[in-house]
Amino acid sequence: MLCLGIESTAHTFGVGIVTDRGKILANIGNVHKSAKGGIHPREAARHHGVIAKETVLCALAKAGVTMNDIDLIAFSMGPGLGPTLRTGATAARALSVFYQVPILGVNHCISHVEIGRLTEGAKDPVTLYVSGGNTQVIAFDAGRYRVFGETLDISVGNCLDVFAREVGIPHPGGPNVEQLAREGKHYIPLPYVVKGMDLSFSGLMTEAVRKHRTGSDLRDLCFSLQETAFAALVEVTERAVAHTEKREVMLTGGVAANKRLREMVGLMAKEHQAKFHVPPIELCKDQGAMIAWTGLLMYKRGVRHKLDQTQVRQRYRTDEVDIVWR
Ligand code: ATP
Ligand code: FE2
Repeated sequence: MLCLGIESTAHTFGVGIVTDRGKILANIGNVHKSAKGGIHPREAARHHGVIAKETVLCALAKAGVTMNDIDLIAFSMGPGLGPTLRTGATAARALSVFYQVPILGVNHCISHVEIGRLTEGAKDPVTLYVSGGNTQVIAFDAGRYRVFGETLDISVGNCLDVFAREVGIPHPGGPNVEQLAREGKHYIPLPYVVKGMDLSFSGLMTEAVRKHRTGSDLRDLCFSLQETAFAALVEVTERAVAHTEKREVMLTGGVAANKRLREMVGLMAKEHQAKFHVPPIELCKDQGAMIAWTGLLMYKRGVRHKLDQTQVRQRYRTDEVDIVWR
């Protein structure tokens, strides 16, 4: 059985083709790049609309199959930006109707966990999912993926990106901040905000920008920003590990590329005798294979969506989905 999965929650229009045994035959991404690095939802949606057909054709060619071989269409139903989500959903519906193939809407955050479980062999991890749009600590409990902690305002990726933009570090912010942070020597105190199990990064970002304007060294600031933000992420993830007594920790999302964050989360996992997993970075970022694979898991456990149940959900929560495949 073959599933074609479409991802379109934000910058990336991705198409993945995956078999029901978990073999990824193609995973083609097409990323909308804006001049200043931020995202304009309607411009990104227009980009996705323009390149949708060629991305699907490219994925089919890569997989060496045609649309007639596809048994299921899955798409990212949310959470994400309305305009980009709708473009992906429209493409998915068109393919489903034209080729008379069933369609399934998938929760984006859950699919990050599922692709990691597939490729890393992680069975039941506590997952720290950190990207430009999301920051969540997720673990399975009583039939659902529960959010043990999350940001109350901006994501950690957004914190790094906006800081970079405000202080004149070229786009992409995250990797460039990481580079500069390696040369930082002195820790500059910055607001560390953990509220219960939740996080907040907007005050941290604002204060780091302010410190730059009042003359703090940029490399020290990048170093301190990372140390502060990542320590908060590790604190919340660690408490989720301690509470659930799970023996696996997984790090995913675009910010998982960061070596310092990997080191910090890895050390914490080690202290808890937990196995530490980071999927290959192409599978940490947004892509279609994770959507296809999660669609297959759902389909094989009997989940079906009628066409009128395929509306996108910008605020689709991780803990809303009954996980019938576990
Ligand atoms: P989502 O829709 O899941 O929120 P996204 O559109 O933000 O995803 P991703 O590729 O998952 O896309 O993540 C991009 C984020 O990852 C950006 O905020 C970017 O700055 C950050 N990032 C990438 N590399 C690094 C790095 N080395 N260090 C820190 N952050 C990084
Ligand atoms: Fe994502």
